[in-house]
Amino acid sequence: MNTQQIEAAKEQFGKLLEKQLARVEAMKAQGDFVNYKELDKITIGVCGGDGIGPAITGQAQRVLEYLLKDEVATGKVEFKVIDGLTIERRAEEMAAIPADVLTELKTCDVILKGPTTTPRKGDGLPNIESANVAMRKELDLFANVRPVRIPEQGIDWTFYRENTEGGYAAGKEGVSVTDDLGIDFTIATSQGCDRIIRAAFEFAKANGKTRVTAVTKANIIKTTDGKFLENFYRIAKEYDGITADDWYIDIMTAKLLDEQRRRDFEVVVLPNLYGDIITDEAAELQGGVGTAGSANIGKKYAMFEAIHGSAPRMVQEGRDIYADPCSVIRAGAMLLSHIGYTEKANQLYNALDICTVTEKKLVLTGRDTGATGAEFADYIMETIAKN
Ligand code: IPM
Ligand code: MG
Repeated sequence: MNTQQIEAAKEQFGKLLEKQLARVEAMKAQGDFVNYKELDKITIGVCGGDGIGPAITGQAQRVLEYLLKDEVATGKVEFKVIDGLTIERRAEEMAAIPADVLTELKTCDVILKGPTTTPRKGDGLPNIESANVAMRKELDLFANVRPVRIPEQGIDWTFYRENTEGGYAAGKEGVSVTDDLGIDFTIATSQGCDRIIRAAFEFAKANGKTRVTAVTKANIIKTTDGKFLENFYRIAKEYDGITADDWYIDIMTAKLLDEQRRRDFEVVVLPNLYGDIITDEAAELQGGVGTAGSANIGKKYAMFEAIHGSAPRMVQEGRDIYADPCSVIRAGAMLLSHIGYTEKANQLYNALDICTVTEKKLVLTGRDTGATGAEFADYIMETIAKN
């Protein structure tokens, strides 16, 4: 028998339970969402990350500073550049987020973040946790909001992906019980389900949406997905006039490709891993994962990012100045809207449409055959000024 190994595994599991129960208590004690209007000053952290991150994030910052110049002048808004969230520093300190970077991040209200490199087995980097996942957990950014729009097909979806639980909560705390037996954990709490589901319904209500769809695999993953679904239908009763329905993840993946049915989906709320997968599928339909922005929202902090990678090769080849800043600029528009500058956000969305779809005076090719990110940011600002 493997008595000793089983005992060791039980001990590891016990620690995990303690940590998760402490998280439940922390969630219970949590206040409401910040009201940015009530803050004397909103601090926007700009955290470039790795690879092409600093180059494209710097361009997005220029655009935001342009749109917020009056607010910066009066001191209502402040920008703060946060360096050091690089794979080199993270590997050196063996930390998903270096301690000083985390301290700086916590002095901000909202953060615009560039891509960060996630090491994986076999690439010669130490096994550190993804900076993204760590930031979501550290700042308790529980709602990952990912809009996907394809106007010519009548598609206007908003995904509310749970961002702190599911398979991600204890992703690095799985147990290798013996050489032959590995076990991972997936986690759902009542508080965690409640807050993401409510956020989705509140969004629907505030934006005139009439349908909220939950996606799970509750027929198989009965305990955690079952809890998610049970909370979903309980909360749905509080929202008159909004239809609530649910689909299993497998058929939902297929339905997003069904041209007859897919435009009927509006707001979709789902556990972490399903949200991770299906939002890549949805973004691909919109024109590629590089076209999507993502908002990571918590009660106290919020972080906005592009969902593409850090393209280290572009930096090695000296091409980072040609990297396409559109998706971080789009994330910047989401940030503006989140902190209450809806009008400025719309000006920016509109300029992005003009510059990337209707007028397209500049083309980014990722190399010297196209415009630089700085030229593109100039083009965006000129377009805002003209419209
Ligand atoms: C995303 C990404 C991340 C995730 C990675 C980079 C850890 O795929 O934001 O969707 O899995 O959440
Ligand atoms: Mg993903």
